[in-house]
Amino acid sequence: LAGVTLAGGCRLAGAERAGAPLASRLPLPRPFAVPLPVPPVARPGADGTSYELVQRPARVEIIPGTRTEVWGYDGVFPGPTFDVRAGRPIRVRVVNRLPVPTSTHLHGGVTPPDSDGYPTHLVVPSGLAGRFRPGHGGQGAHGGQAGQGGHGARRPEAWRPARETFVHEYPLGQAAATLWYHDHRMDFTGPQVYRGLAGMFLIRDEAEDALPLPRGDREIPLLICDRAFEEDGALRYPSVDPALLGEPGVTGAHHQGVEGDVMLVNGAPWPVAEVAAVRYRLRFLNACNARRLDLRLDPPPPSGAAFTQIGGDIGLLSRPRPLDGLVLAGAERADVVVDFGAYPVGTRVVLRNRLGAGRTREVMRFDVVRRAGDDSAVPARLARVRTLTPRDAVRRRRFDFRLGGPGPHGARWTVNGLPFDPGTALAAPELGTTELWTLTSDFHHPVHVHLGHFQVLSRNGRPPRPSDAGWKDTVDVRPYEVVQILVHFAGFRGRYVVHCHNLEHEDMAMMANIDVV
Ligand code: C2O
Ligand code: CU
Repeated sequence: LAGVTLAGGCRLAGAERAGAPLASRLPLPRPFAVPLPVPPVARPGADGTSYELVQRPARVEIIPGTRTEVWGYDGVFPGPTFDVRAGRPIRVRVVNRLPVPTSTHLHGGVTPPDSDGYPTHLVVPSGLAGRFRPGHGGQGAHGGQAGQGGHGARRPEAWRPARETFVHEYPLGQAAATLWYHDHRMDFTGPQVYRGLAGMFLIRDEAEDALPLPRGDREIPLLICDRAFEEDGALRYPSVDPALLGEPGVTGAHHQGVEGDVMLVNGAPWPVAEVAAVRYRLRFLNACNARRLDLRLDPPPPSGAAFTQIGGDIGLLSRPRPLDGLVLAGAERADVVVDFGAYPVGTRVVLRNRLGAGRTREVMRFDVVRRAGDDSAVPARLARVRTLTPRDAVRRRRFDFRLGGPGPHGARWTVNGLPFDPGTALAAPELGTTELWTLTSDFHHPVHVHLGHFQVLSRNGRPPRPSDAGWKDTVDVRPYEVVQILVHFAGFRGRYVVHCHNLEHEDMAMMANIDVV
């Protein structure tokens, strides 16, 4: 099957070794040769609050000297960065000029259910709304194994009429935070995000403005993801699980999730950024489909910690935390300050991923090229963050994330033993309340809750890890770990999802509905 072309320029890839990333079929570019790009900032229309995002294919240069077809918001990968103010609602009209349906989710947003990017709230390609039938599997992705004629089609009431464009209302009634937006189509999130449908979404507020943090060109969003490429530059994604091709001893990309052998930052392979010997605010996002990151600076600074973490998934921490490594599972964010002033001018600082192997151990490089004045600082108090305690919880629930029994096409990932069914909800938390959830798993599952924001209470009965700090929307539940979180539901009633953010697990049905009542 290797080499069969599907819509969108991705090819079916042959069997891959379990645990090994997909191998690119072109020579890998030289590291630290491409300058770090910074995605464009999304611009509103004349009213200052209405945005439009046109999802369309585009041919872009990712690997120097080759063209790659991506599916981009506004034809760019990553999509434009939203830079918006807390408490000032915006609306975003999404137009679909791709060959497949989409659904756009604001990850970490407190968003009404209609605008949240529910997996079956589809925006279909322009001109196709009339002809589109709910439950249609589309093409070009392995996830259809779970979805074609599958769980979605059984419950037609879960589908709303397909539209050709949809206006998302984002009230932004939440504090400053590093969010992101990405495709969320049921069964196809992995392949559609892989093709490029992801971007950063920054919310700012006055409390944060008042802090003397680095700003302007000393504040850089860093969207990190991994990809593999075909000989001609096309993105390479395994559209059929290699395990289904009968390769002996292969557990399959959909067991592990899809990892590529090229590390991209803001869409560029192993880029390099020239920095002054001053403090920078770096907003890290792990936008990989399945890869976990443990980021380090090499060399570490001669004195002090490599990173000063100031924020997590959902906003600022109460106090800064010095860290030598940043562990980020899929969808997690870390807002950090790095003081390049700790290095002599001329130092080349490599950002490494300790969890990578070979070339994926390197991510990008910062070259400290000049001295400059620096009036920024990291204050000892950053924000007021109320710490939740089990006494705040009005109810307890358990969610078990595990490989379930065989379905028509092999095993499926499940929540509490069930594959995703858009027509059924597993829980009905009450608006305005806090619940204590116990999460268990058989593998690494970055568990993401829509609408509800949470604090990690414990791991295996012990205190949370550094990567668990602050308000969160995604927590990496490690194999056979018991993670307790205190999750608070505020803002809106309605149907939302909880799912694994390993996108291949999500597409293989590791998702559940939550009805906030
Ligand atoms: Cu980042 Cu439900 O997704
Ligand atoms: Cu998972």
